[in-house]
Amino acid sequence: MNRTLAIIKPDAVAAGKAGLVLAHLEKSGFTVRAMRLTRLNPEQARAFYAVHTERPFFQSLVSFMTSGPCVPLVLEADGAVPKLRQTIGATDPAEAAEGTIRALYAESKERNAIHASDSDENADREVAFFFSESDLLAL
Ligand code: CMP
Repeated sequence: MNRTLAIIKPDAVAAGKAGLVLAHLEKSGFTVRAMRLTRLNPEQARAFYAVHTERPFFQSLVSFMTSGPCVPLVLEADGAVPKLRQTIGATDPAEAAEGTIRALYAESKERNAIHASDSDENADREVAFFFSESDLLAL
């Protein structure tokens, strides 16, 4: 079994879609090991997305990610990282495959409903960003 980090983003939470996104994740075969409702402050958002610091959309991304509550989740499945990226679809909802979470719930390339770790290494870093080992619960 492998772990990955997802964040149900502020657009989906504000739209009352967090439950639908969570149901989609469970239906897709992920087990939730940890979950929290939280609101990132600008320092946290800048640190989480540090790899994008030089991108033109960085300030806007930080502003969006701090605009309201979000739901970080630790998800477990075989091949969790690639499986989750397939389940959520492309960054831009216009390019996301039919039936994926972003195709169903994302508003735009920025307000795209959900984040997912892009490698096992980043999954470990991102899980540790939000949770300690003692937060991870077995069923
Ligand atoms: P995420 O998977 O969380 O990783 C980085 C985020 O930056 C991405 O989802 C989008 O929310 C945002 N993003 C990526 N590319 C763009 C873009 N071209 N314009 C605006 N936001 C973007």
